Amino acid sequence: MENINPTQTKSWKKLSDHFKAVEKLQMKDLFKKEENRGSEFSIQWEDFYLDYSKNRITTETKSLLLELVKECKLDKAIESYFGGEAINQTEGRPVLHTALRAKENKTVNVEGENVLPEVQEVKAKIKAFSNEVIDGSRKGYTGKKFTDVVNIGIGGSDLGPVMVTESLQYYQNHLKVHYISNVDGDHVHQAIQDLNPETTLFIIVSKSFTTQETLSNSTTIRSWFMKTAPEEAVSKHFVAVSSNVEKVEEFGIASENIFPMWDWVGGRFSLWSAVGLSISLAVGYSNFDAMLQGAQKMDEHFKNSDYSENIPVQLALISIWYNNFCNAESEAVIPYSQYLHRLPAYLQQAIMESNGKSVDRNGDKVDYQTGTIIWGEPGTNSQHAFFQLIHQGTKLIPADFIGFKHPLFQDKDHHDKLMANYFAQTEALLQGKTEGEVRSELEGKSLSTEEIEKLLPFKVFDGNKPTNSILIEKLTPESLGKLVAMYEHKIFVQGVIWNIFSYDQWGVELGKQLASKILAEIENNSVENHDSSTKNMLKFFLK
Ligand code: F6P
Repeated sequence: MENINPTQTKSWKKLSDHFKAVEKLQMKDLFKKEENRGSEFSIQWEDFYLDYSKNRITTETKSLLLELVKECKLDKAIESYFGGEAINQTEGRPVLHTALRAKENKTVNVEGENVLPEVQEVKAKIKAFSNEVIDGSRKGYTGKKFTDVVNIGIGGSDLGPVMVTESLQYYQNHLKVHYISNVDGDHVHQAIQDLNPETTLFIIVSKSFTTQETLSNSTTIRSWFMKTAPEEAVSKHFVAVSSNVEKVEEFGIASENIFPMWDWVGGRFSLWSAVGLSISLAVGYSNFDAMLQGAQKMDEHFKNSDYSENIPVQLALISIWYNNFCNAESEAVIPYSQYLHRLPAYLQQAIMESNGKSVDRNGDKVDYQTGTIIWGEPGTNSQHAFFQLIHQGTKLIPADFIGFKHPLFQDKDHHDKLMANYFAQTEALLQGKTEGEVRSELEGKSLSTEEIEKLLPFKVFDGNKPTNSILIEKLTPESLGKLVAMYEHKIFVQGVIWNIFSYDQWGVELGKQLASKILAEIENNSVENHDSSTKNMLKFFLK
């Protein structure tokens, strides 16, 4: 990958000038002028329909952004990404979550060796294990079938699996899957109190197997388990997913109970690996595999489509436009499906841990904005919570609206209402409501002229608020796989253009180091040298 400062490219300068020229444009005027805007700024691919016409962009914006992509050499970067080059340079690793869903007959080399046979081997292990637990042939230590599965992990070892399990709840079998991530003991004890140790399977998921939260939670849970179960029962009830086999064995888990993963799978992109074991248990291996196949299709679309018709590329470019030229501070993700309620949280890690960087690939401090702040909640709930600010607040918040054409329970009445809101909100955000419109609406009510004039400014909507609409046929394992891979590639494109390393996460280390130092002080009841704020609080805590 080449290290190109995007702000030094010709297209960046052109985009800055172009911004001044289009800054005042109103999207609704563009719609009036451009009859085919809706179709020209949209992409239809398989069961996906992306409409990005409700954005503050013109045909020229689009072509300048495409020039930027060329100048930043996205082509070459994509080759390096899929080809297994060590593009995570600060950790010296390739970034190959795409290999986890690659077709079996392909070759993906890491240091000259094809990794796909090993990937297939682990998939076969996931499949066999999931089938046995689901059909009840694998039993707990007293001979009872498993009823509950607990995933113990944090960050990428939790957020991906929990998001997918929730999203695919409709496809779930009889197993109840629980997630324990926080080191908060109250949560751990609350979560285990209703579990039956005889029928519960625990999956300890930690790529490094050094994560404080996961190891503490696992130790507490194992002690709780052993209050009623004999030592030899552990091997029937505890399995682990990790790339650190030695540490897992030290913890007391036998090698046959370890599902391996590899250095070249980043934590936040690992749900496609054995980290997704809880997904496979919850919905069955065939659904897990269908999700992988969906992601694989999105990989092909991303690799092979012309950038002007490329969903992840277009989304990445629009986001760069707002972040770097229009000064937007954040982006909202609003799924119109309750099933996707953990998607924003999952994307927060995927996007912010990846692109929240302020040093470029040359090691220099950047003087432009990088990683976007991501937040969101499902519609329609969010409409009754924070949409006020999106409609009438002072901040520019581009939003992705994700919706499905068909509901899963065939309740047409509910789905029509849900989707009417989906369509209405993006239209309302686009059109707004003018003073004239508000006035004539108020005139229809029995209000005096004075009352009308007083109320009027509060009821005006400026409109011109940008949205992308991602409309998908139906929420299935396959379409979910496509959706998640779409965001993964959006992250990649943005990292390439911002000239940052998207696949390390050094920013999480300092807090961890200080926490272990402070923990020792708390345990020894001796507060050492800190700023007066921290010192006072520690003293108050220890009193
Ligand atoms: O928060 C930092 C982080 O390293 C994440 O990147 C990762 O997903 C998480 O911790 C958990 O790490 P592990 O799987 O090694 O326990």
